[in-house]
Amino acid sequence: MAGDFQDFIDEVLEKTDIVDLVSPYAKLKRVGNRFQCLCPLHNDKKTPSFSISPDKQLFHCFGCGAGGNAIHFVMAKEGLDFMDALKLLAERANVPFPDTRSPSGQSAAKHDKKKRMYEINKIAARFFFDTLRSEKGKAGLNYFKNRNILPKTIKKFGLGYAPDSRGGLLEYMSGQGYSPKELAEAGLAVLRENGSYYDKFRNRVMFPIIDVRGNIIGFGGRVIGEGEPKYLNSPETLIFKKSQNLFGLNFAKNDDSGRILIMEGYMDVISLYQSGIINSVASLGTAFGEEHARLLKKYTTHAVLCYDSDEAGQKAADRAGKILLDADIKTRVLTINDGKDPDEFINKNGADMFRVLIEQAKPYIEYKIDKIKQQYNLDDNMEKVEFTQEAAEVIVDIKSRVEAELTVKHLAEELRVSPEAVMAEVENVRRRKSSVEKIREVRQVEKGARVGASPEKFKLQNAERLLLSLMSEKNVFAAASDKIQPSDFTVDLHRRIAQIIYDTYNKGNTFSFNDILSRFDSAEVGSVASILADDKNVANKLRAAETPIDIIVAAKHKRRQNELVSDGNLEELEKEIQVLKQRKGGV
Ligand code: UTP
Ligand code: MN
Repeated sequence: MAGDFQDFIDEVLEKTDIVDLVSPYAKLKRVGNRFQCLCPLHNDKKTPSFSISPDKQLFHCFGCGAGGNAIHFVMAKEGLDFMDALKLLAERANVPFPDTRSPSGQSAAKHDKKKRMYEINKIAARFFFDTLRSEKGKAGLNYFKNRNILPKTIKKFGLGYAPDSRGGLLEYMSGQGYSPKELAEAGLAVLRENGSYYDKFRNRVMFPIIDVRGNIIGFGGRVIGEGEPKYLNSPETLIFKKSQNLFGLNFAKNDDSGRILIMEGYMDVISLYQSGIINSVASLGTAFGEEHARLLKKYTTHAVLCYDSDEAGQKAADRAGKILLDADIKTRVLTINDGKDPDEFINKNGADMFRVLIEQAKPYIEYKIDKIKQQYNLDDNMEKVEFTQEAAEVIVDIKSRVEAELTVKHLAEELRVSPEAVMAEVENVRRRKSSVEKIREVRQVEKGARVGASPEKFKLQNAERLLLSLMSEKNVFAAASDKIQPSDFTVDLHRRIAQIIYDTYNKGNTFSFNDILSRFDSAEVGSVASILADDKNVANKLRAAETPIDIIVAAKHKRRQNELVSDGNLEELEKEIQVLKQRKGGV
């Protein structure tokens, strides 16, 4: 799949001209083989610090340190992540998005294995479901009955029971032609040290986890009554990725209320569904994460967090809220005032009362600010100021200008100060945050080459950068890789770039700027581009590489000698010196 996807990226970039892409944002001026302009990514008023190489299809800004290819430009300009920027450019260039569901990309063997795993899960779910209503499943059925789960709900969610035996499922599945090893790979059996297998789930009520395409990808199994762990979940497998799936989304995605409710537990989702509220999901025994937010965004623009009323639940809601905010999903936080979780609440008060809670749920920002407010005494002026500063940390993250302004206005009224005063605090936070980021970027670029580095170190680091940029030619790599390994580069970033270049050539692939850049995140991509795009305009790259190679090799030997001296290893030191002498004589 990776190969196919790389082809897709390459095609998008081939069909995109970075000069065309940037030109609406700035007046470009041709200087030699480059274009220059004021940087459209930062407030560049005087000197045109933004430079584009049409040959390499790369840009770099000396002012703000941004750099990279067309994708990175869109990421920076539009504030998108790599995938979304890529999608935008693909649309612009009319390149169809590759169907990642098609088996073409992945190896046929892997595809077959996945298919078999889906089958195994489906048959196992059927086995658990049937067992629940058999003589052996009485404990399970009783358990569900006690929790007010109706037969039609059991059927809808395919709930089941794993028998209280070490080989119930294993035996059944082997009768169906599936080996214990396959069962273990699917997370349903466990391998003992002596080579035998046993059922992973025993004497538990079973919750099949179904993806949006309707495949059963794993299970959660709850202990009957008390016991540890309360819920046992399938391990991550070829088809079960906890960070990429949500329990209940297979139903919730079909709801047309325009919002999705996020619960902590499987039972909350099931209980709500039974009461006619069918738009809820829960994460799978893990915290709600960025990938979950991205998944939700495909189906909804609004979310309501319905986490448990205890402290752990409130903390989790806090974190999930921030993730949803960053993903630009309009989020509210619901507060349960009677009972521990939505399941308990519904059992006590009914679905209509829960619907009232949904309508009363506070916007995430308001919820956060209210929570901060509780820690301060707002009759005290000093505390008022501190509260405002802490609230500003929250407001600064609001994406919508209108929402930010409304929040500020509301807060100002409450504190009986002017909105401008509150806004000033928000701007303070923003400035502090952006300068912290700037400093981080600059540090990254100048790592090592900063003031304070000795001239020798400075020379070495420049040599490393130069060599890396010259390695776009394979014969330079061939000459260098004889004497220098990626680990010999002294700057961490250089080392990682070198490793990628070495891997590329060693695999017989050709050097690709875009491939290299795509392996770095947005914080580093500017530095990497500035190293690689540093076109020295030399005719003979191999010749130009001689000096930096010598400098790096000499530094390496010097480090080695210092090590030997400090270790007191004179014998090795003597050998090392002999080797050096011979080498010098030979050249
Ligand atoms: P809770 O402990 O809140 O469970 O865990 P719950 O859903 O209210 O359970 P009931 O009502 O007692 O049956 C919330 C979620 O955290 C995960 C499960 O996904 C559960 O639904 N969890 C919890 C685990 O994965 N393992 C555990 O041991 C406990
Ligand atoms: Mn519960």
